[in-house]
Amino acid sequence: MGRSVSVSNSVPDATFYHKRSNRYYSVRAGRMRRHQNDAQGREVNVVEKTIDFGIGSGNHAVTYIHRSADGRLTELPVSFYALYGWAMSPGYDKPDHLDFRREVDPACLFCHSDSGEPSPIGCGRCHGDGAAHASKPTRGNIVNPKRLPASRQLDICLQCHLETASSGFPDSLRHAGRDVWSFRPGEALTSYKAYFDRDDGTGAGNDRFEVNHAGYRLMQSRCFTESAGRMTCTTCHDPHTAKARNACASCHASPHANEATPCAACHMPKRAAEDAIHVRMTDHKIVRAPKFEEPNRKGHDLFSGRLKLFYGSGLLELAQVRQTIDSGRGSEESYRRWVDLEPGSVPALAALGEALMRFGKRTEAVRLLEKARAAGPRNVAVLNALAIHHATEGRLPKAMELLEQARAAKPDHPLTWINLGVTHEAMGSADKARSAYLEAVRLQPDSSEARRRLAALQ
Ligand code: HEC
Ligand code: HEC
Ligand code: HEC
Ligand code: HEC
Ligand code: HEC
Ligand code: HEC
Repeated sequence: MGRSVSVSNSVPDATFYHKRSNRYYSVRAGRMRRHQNDAQGREVNVVEKTIDFGIGSGNHAVTYIHRSADGRLTELPVSFYALYGWAMSPGYDKPDHLDFRREVDPACLFCHSDSGEPSPIGCGRCHGDGAAHASKPTRGNIVNPKRLPASRQLDICLQCHLETASSGFPDSLRHAGRDVWSFRPGEALTSYKAYFDRDDGTGAGNDRFEVNHAGYRLMQSRCFTESAGRMTCTTCHDPHTAKARNACASCHASPHANEATPCAACHMPKRAAEDAIHVRMTDHKIVRAPKFEEPNRKGHDLFSGRLKLFYGSGLLELAQVRQTIDSGRGSEESYRRWVDLEPGSVPALAALGEALMRFGKRTEAVRLLEKARAAGPRNVAVLNALAIHHATEGRLPKAMELLEQARAAKPDHPLTWINLGVTHEAMGSADKARSAYLEAVRLQPDSSEARRRLAALQ
């Protein structure tokens, strides 16, 4: 885990063609570049970004991150896999992937870094703040996980090793007032977060098997559920080297196999993860005779059914409402409920504002969007929605002003460029409109709207 983040950008050079999205990638001198070829074979739609650090030790994979001048982090579209070499990053092996536009949220760094600044995981994440202890070492001013109740000990590892779904719905939510970095070793993980699972028989509580599965699979083993709190991660793993030892005999007195084959080879086999290509992980659900099918990688689209609690309590309704909205099935009532459940949240206000705009309730929509803008002046969804509102009512300069703010806040957001194009067209500047649409196409070559508008201009 000391290598969970590599702060170097020294990566081997490579070139790589991704057929499904018809894009060429290259990695050279610490930069990742993408282009397409036009009908004459000339390079078009070039995007190039520096590789600023990597996430993942490379035991299985390393995903690279770009940091923009204003500190925003973006996941890069091509990753390095130990068993395979260069290939698309998890979730990118499709024609309309996010390319250079997927923002890395601070929650990503919570598990992969010691702090919001990319850095390897340190002692404090398991032992608490060590400053007081270092100046005057006593037993009382440092957390020794060994002396915690088993469930609190387990929670130290689960803060990073429990992820009930890597996509499809919010797998967990933090309780009100808890920011990303507020978990402290020794406290109950459930007072920080609640975890959810899909309730359709295909979830983490069933046979789903994703990269970060160790927590939820172990929690379903009979060894875990029937050993009255005696089993934690450190029953088998040394917490400082992460190495696993053969600890089965501490509970299973008369093992039936000889010493030559480790028990785990048969009872904890390695299998392919559903959410990442080219990686094989150790199944932590310990069973008599493991049987599983190789994953078909279906079911990673947005989930639209019921959720249930997996670990912790509360927040289920909020998770359900957000997931209903994310999966495109939100009614006016769901958007209103989201704002009730998370008062003052900019994304919630923005979503309700945009929804009311679609439902034709303009006056209230504008009021909410302005409220969202006051709380989050750089939110590009809010700025674009307000710009469209002003443009529709003929106030083109006002629309342009808001779109310029959106562009400054996030220069690589294709929708802003499309709206800039439309506004320039309405103001009679076809040339400026054309460059705006071209920029949208460069950023998102599969944007049919940008391409359609560009074609209509020519
Ligand atoms: C702050 C987050 C965090 C905490 C806390 C944490 N881990 Fe990890 N752990 C990670 C990450 C991230 C990786 C993957 C590192 C990589 O390979 O990139 C990892 C990897 C591992 C590995 C595989 C290491 C290898 O070399 O293959 C083991 C085993 C492991 N952790 C066990 C534990 C145990 C046991 C605990 C609790 C005592 C724990 N972890 C606590 C984040 C964490
Ligand atoms: C809840 C904690 C958590 C979050 C959030 C999380 N990861 Fe991970 N990730 C892990 C753990 C733990 C592992 C190691 C799993 C294992 O080895 O069994 C891992 C594995 C990986 C690996 C493979 C690493 C290797 O050892 O080869 C990559 C790459 C990765 N994560 C990238 C990301 C990115 C990018 C994000 C944000 C979009 C992210 N992760 C969010 C916990 C997390
Ligand atoms: C991934 C979590 C994790 C990290 C990171 C970690 N530790 Fe530990 N550490 C533990 C656990 C769990 C134990 C208790 C092991 C046991 O049950 O015997 C422990 C035990 C210890 C002990 C022994 C206490 C005793 O009673 O014998 C010392 C000393 C220690 N850690 C120091 C450190 C230092 C120094 C660092 C940073 C370089 C560090 N640890 C990083 C999880 C961690
Ligand atoms: C902390 C104690 C503990 C440890 C360590 C432990 N087990 Fe278990 N295991 C149990 C208990 C308790 C049960 C349930 C009662 C029983 O079947 O004996 C169980 C059940 C099992 C079962 C039957 C599972 C089923 O679904 O019927 C298998 C197989 C098994 N363990 C294998 C292992 C292997 C292999 C290891 C080491 C990788 C291991 N156990 C480590 C406590 C433990
Ligand atoms: C019963 C023993 C046992 C327990 C308990 C256990 N592990 Fe493991 N774990 C293993 C074995 C065996 C491996 C494979 C080691 C190897 O291949 O060198 C492993 C591998 C891993 C890996 C490396 C990636 C992979 O999937 O191969 C991670 C991460 C990990 N364990 C995390 C955890 C966490 C977190 C917990 C607690 C929730 C935990 N383990 C509890 C036995 C255990
Ligand atoms: C070569 C593969 C293999 C190895 C190695 C192996 N097992 Fe098993 N184990 C099995 C099979 C097969 C079964 C029986 C499955 C069934 O019930 O059909 C089993 C059953 C078990 C059971 C359930 C027994 C019962 O009566 O309920 C336990 C517990 C268990 N093994 C523990 C271990 C431990 C501990 C080790 C290491 C010392 C180990 N096994 C090594 C293949 C293996």
